[in-house]
Amino acid sequence: MTHNILEPLPEDQWFIESQKLRSFVATVREISASTSENRTQTLARLEPYFQELLGQQEWLDEKFLQVNPESKMGGGIGQWLLYRAQDRSLTVFSLVIPPGSTTPVHDHLAWGLIGLYKGNQQETVYRRVDSGNCEGHAKLEVVEVRSLQPGDIYRLLPPDGDIHAVKTTSETASVSIHILGNDTGCILRHQFIPESHSVKSFRSGYSNAPCQEQEKEHAQV
Ligand SMILES: [Fe+2]
Repeated sequence: MTHNILEPLPEDQWFIESQKLRSFVATVREISASTSENRTQTLARLEPYFQELLGQQEWLDEKFLQVNPESKMGGGIGQWLLYRAQDRSLTVFSLVIPPGSTTPVHDHLAWGLIGLYKGNQQETVYRRVDSGNCEGHAKLEVVEVRSLQPGDIYRLLPPDGDIHAVKTTSETASVSIHILGNDTGCILRHQFIPESHSVKSFRSGYSNAPCQEQEKEHAQV
């Protein structure tokens, strides 16, 4: 999809001052570069480091744990960018889902690890079973429904595990940390409505950082 060729940034972007996150990102970059031919291996090697990061609660500032009433995901969901690589091939962000809210059914279009940091979630994983040849049409099947506790990690390895919806089941907002092999908030990806077998493009954006692509679209209107 040509829309997903994003322009590089002048430099790496950090939205949080944390030595822990800096050293974790350095590890992710080293492992993902050395295992670029085999993403299953990338994810397996990253998991213990990610587990350790999730187990430490003091590195993530309060401002990245907030819901966002202006959310483009809907439902007050906050998507807070923590790190973005200059070439936009790696991002780390927190996703904050208010109690009772559910994300749309969506995909990510990149390898990734997602770990629950706070609260509880129910994740419904889908698989696309149509050919994808009919625009606006998509048929999904539920693969799995999982209950997630803090410290639980799951993998995205498209097409496996790439389509899901996540609901907060705790009485407080849930917070998950995402390590993704693309600029997830800025690319055009898909939002599905399984009941009506439909799909549309969407760009979720971030709550605290612009996408140049959005700005260009506005300028063209
Ligand atoms: Fe997701």
